[in-house]
Amino acid sequence: MFNFDEIVDRTKTPCEKWNKYKGQDVIPAWVADMDFKSPPCVIEALQKRVQEGVFGYTDIDDETYDAMIAFVKRHYNWEIKKEWILFTHGVVSSMNIACMAVETASVMTTTPIYPHFIKAPKHANKEVLAIAMKEENKRWVLDFEAMEKAINPTCKLFMLCNPYNPAGTVFTCKELESLGDFCLKHDLTICSDEIHADLLLNPETKHIPIASLSEALAQKSITLMAPSKTFNIAGLQASFAVIPNAELRKNFKRTMGSMVGGINILGITALKAAYLEGDAWLSELRVYLAANLKMVQDFVSKNPKLKLLGQEATFLAWIDASSLHVKSPYEFFVQHGVGLSDGEPFGNKNFVRLNFGTQKSVLEEILKRMQKAMDSL
Ligand SMILES: Cc1ncc(COP(=O)(O)O)c(C=O)c1O
Repeated sequence: MFNFDEIVDRTKTPCEKWNKYKGQDVIPAWVADMDFKSPPCVIEALQKRVQEGVFGYTDIDDETYDAMIAFVKRHYNWEIKKEWILFTHGVVSSMNIACMAVETASVMTTTPIYPHFIKAPKHANKEVLAIAMKEENKRWVLDFEAMEKAINPTCKLFMLCNPYNPAGTVFTCKELESLGDFCLKHDLTICSDEIHADLLLNPETKHIPIASLSEALAQKSITLMAPSKTFNIAGLQASFAVIPNAELRKNFKRTMGSMVGGINILGITALKAAYLEGDAWLSELRVYLAANLKMVQDFVSKNPKLKLLGQEATFLAWIDASSLHVKSPYEFFVQHGVGLSDGEPFGNKNFVRLNFGTQKSVLEEILKRMQKAMDSL
């Protein structure tokens, strides 16, 4: 049993999340990291590595590759090979690299979405075709009709977020197959950001990497993965791209060039420990997060002016606050002591995103304050 209820005073470190509202009576519930300590296996591995006292350039040992390959097979039933893996310092870096590495004039993605899906193509001087997600059976889903209308021959890259941040959708096998067909039909490479793959909140559901669906899709995919959200080690900056196609991998690597240097020793140490020994912690985390989500859902269902569609993954709830009819729902909740993410950078200012990856007692206080805000209307 791991203790996710343990309060960690993060204001003692200059962490982004708690620093933002330092000195104010505002509980932060925004940037996507959690308030939990990482698994003991990770902390112990880091302590052991620090004890060695020498932190020069590093190679990646075979045991680390084996741990990654086994984790991907165990959790997503996908068999990957060592030579398909390229390390980067973060998934955002990889998104930018992908946009530069794929020859294309424009990039198709969906909206609302994690802002770097829009920023990365722009950095690479590519036009963005952002297609709105649509609501269907209480879930946010892809709008294939709109995608077909918008696609044009200059577009050769689709950027997918699965599971979806901010809308919490876990795409089904059928949905991914349809997307795969769409991408193959239009000769699109798929850059699939699967950073939230381990945070599926329904124990019956398994993450499906789109690249695992067929050899044809594997050959057209750049899959971005990381232990950072899963094991709360985003600050250690270890992530990787899985690229089965040799030519695509060569282009990705060439684009990385000498701009993305060797991996951080402590990041790789944490990654290895987490993938080797973190499963038990992870399954308890998912149960804890599912209980937190239930609290958020109960709160929303008591407040008809708020709306939350089926949230299937992540510790981020995408809440529709348009019926509040306030200028900025984000500002409104800050004034009542809760620092949510503003929906605007994601593509909809009438939404807020609530990070429920925190201790139950903290979440209770967040929801209490939000209820007070709702009662003040
Ligand atoms: C979908 C998605 N991709 C990427 C990232 C950031 O990844 P990294 O810290 O590895 O750059 C986040 C963080 O919130 C995210 O939600």
